[in-house]
Amino acid sequence: MEELDRALRAPTLAAVKSGVADLRDAIGTSPEPPGCLVAGAEDDTVVSLRRDVLLADLAQILEAHTLERAQYYLKRLRASVVETRTNGINDINLRRWKEYDEVLTDSLWVLPRRDSSGAHVAEYWGNFVPQIPRQMMLRYTKSHDWVLDMFVGSGTTLIECRRLGRNGIGVELNPAVAQRAEELVGQEPNPQGVVTEIVTGDSRTVDLRSILGRHGIERVQLLIMHPPYHDIIRFSADPRDLSNAPSGEEFLQMFGRCVDNAAPFLDSGRYFALVIGDKYSRGEWQPLGFWCMSEVLKRAFSLKAIIVKNFEETRGKRNQHDLWRYRALVGGFYLFKHEYVMLFRKTH
Ligand SMILES: C[S@@+](CC[C@H](N)C(=O)[O-])C[C@H]1O[C@@H](n2cnc3c(N)ncnc32)[C@H](O)[C@@H]1O
Repeated sequence: MEELDRALRAPTLAAVKSGVADLRDAIGTSPEPPGCLVAGAEDDTVVSLRRDVLLADLAQILEAHTLERAQYYLKRLRASVVETRTNGINDINLRRWKEYDEVLTDSLWVLPRRDSSGAHVAEYWGNFVPQIPRQMMLRYTKSHDWVLDMFVGSGTTLIECRRLGRNGIGVELNPAVAQRAEELVGQEPNPQGVVTEIVTGDSRTVDLRSILGRHGIERVQLLIMHPPYHDIIRFSADPRDLSNAPSGEEFLQMFGRCVDNAAPFLDSGRYFALVIGDKYSRGEWQPLGFWCMSEVLKRAFSLKAIIVKNFEETRGKRNQHDLWRYRALVGGFYLFKHEYVMLFRKTH
């Protein structure tokens, strides 16, 4: 900070550049771990900056053609160290937005492989990749906000809650699945001491008011739903299970009731992420994703994004790739390689 302030007071462009070049050389050779620089600010608080981003900012100053331009870049760099600016619904410091490479902003997600680190296991057929709840939490929640997942399955969302320091509540119909999820979530370290609770129940009717009330809250800040894609995978023999809905219409009705049950407990202006895929039945593509989207839009939500995400072949089909490709060529259909993350904002 001293070096930056000195450079800002320098009377000529050459003097600014000489100060900045010294700083760049010092940072470039500093012994701290690559990619991370810990700088002491005026009030002795410690700020850690990404070295590559900082070096790029300094290089931009060194390329400036006028003193005014160099000072403009310097002031911006100084502000990025001492000030924080967020959009109010996440912890992304917009003054340092270049450091958030991990946060996706494009609507096409081609995720190379699933994150299977820590407590994440791929054993549950029909789970989503941890990157999905992670991305949602990074962009739509702040530290210690509350996340509600109405179809928690193997607990992927709650494991990510522990990693990111968000409180999480998950609902799951199948007691055996809920118990296994509890074990898995319990294996994940919880350095920020957040709540991660799994409730066994039917998402259409589960009493969310008293569940949230137990934790002294009335609302959550992010709602996630990853329902069965109708009957593509039968999760149980329980008639309350959405995968056992006798028809597409009844599936949508059941899904709508889950939305009606959860929506009142989401803060107004906050986000609802629906993860869903389409299906093929009796020779027809059934746009389940868009049908569910229409259900949500009948309620007090506005559509913010339709993200298309790749998925790898399901376990059953992986070994039969050639057979399915042949069938697709014969039958004139396409093999599903994508699903949707549909993003809604609660309007009131
Ligand atoms: C697609 S999976 C969710 C997987 C989860 N995202 C994960 O990563 O493990 C759907 C889950 O919804 C559950 N389910 C089905 N009907 C339900 C209902 N009425 N209430 C609550 N859970 C239900 C199923 O048992 C299944 O575990």
